[in-house]
Amino acid sequence: MTRDDDFEEINEAKANLDHIYDQPDPRAYFRELKKLRYAIPGAAKPIFQKLISSLQQRRDDTVCVLDLGCSYGVNAALLKHDLSMSELYHHWGQEGLADASPEKIVDCDRRFFDNLDEPEDIEVIGLDQAENAVEYAKEVGLLDEGFVVNLEKEPLSEPAKEGLAPVDLVVSTGCVGYVTEDTFDQLLPAITPDRLPWLANFVLRIFPFDAIEETLNERGYVTEKLEDRTFVQRRFASANEQEQVLEQLHEQGVEPTDKEAAGHLHAEFYLSRPKQDVTDVPIEQLLAG
Ligand SMILES: C[S@@+](CC[C@H](N)C(=O)[O-])C[C@H]1O[C@@H](n2cnc3c(N)ncnc32)[C@H](O)[C@@H]1O
Repeated sequence: MTRDDDFEEINEAKANLDHIYDQPDPRAYFRELKKLRYAIPGAAKPIFQKLISSLQQRRDDTVCVLDLGCSYGVNAALLKHDLSMSELYHHWGQEGLADASPEKIVDCDRRFFDNLDEPEDIEVIGLDQAENAVEYAKEVGLLDEGFVVNLEKEPLSEPAKEGLAPVDLVVSTGCVGYVTEDTFDQLLPAITPDRLPWLANFVLRIFPFDAIEETLNERGYVTEKLEDRTFVQRRFASANEQEQVLEQLHEQGVEPTDKEAAGHLHAEFYLSRPKQDVTDVPIEQLLAG
């Protein structure tokens, strides 16, 4: 059995949310995910911010972030602006906007984000297979550049390869599992033309990270997992989903007590960097304080 088959089987345990991933605007995404208390981009924000500030100190220049599985630009909204997930849920859940056309939402959101400060000196490139979501995020200015591609099945285009060359940091929330080592295999030559950017992935505990880690290792990366800490991704969509996820975890020998058994999907944090960076400042030290 290949890793792709493994991930496909694990994905069958999870509720299918594909119908909200490619709408012309984020209202349905936030409406549905609010019900599930989807929280991982908010939990990831302070960690991504620490990485950005560490990279900024070294580079003294704008940090270029690639958000893998960027969707409607959720991580970009949180990282570019002083916004929380609850503020995003409130913004896209406003009753007055429930019946507005997608065009009106795009207009309103462009103004909304334009009027917010951008405390961080970052650029965000997004990559996702969902064309409408990426288009929305570009239109409202959350993404500085966006690439629509499914690297599990398609090659990376030449313009995308060129566009990805300046990336300093790859981030992902809720994406590994949909993507496997095949995506990273294609991504890595494009983002490592002259240096090794850092990769920061939040990964559900049901998805083993070892095959991606191996792929990264072949390119000179060392991956550290933040030990003794997990992050709530969302609550289960149904008792059936929980039951199936618990079964998967049991098969993998992962202990679910106080975590998935208590009602929430949990993610872990993996940071992949060049060996020298890991030796100089280990993950615990980098993220301390
Ligand atoms: C759970 S959503 C997470 C979105 C966003 N990162 C967040 O945390 O709000 C998963 C995203 O992965 C994208 N996705 C699924 N399969 C993909 C693939 N093969 N390549 C690129 N993106 C994919 C979906 O379109 C969706 O936007």
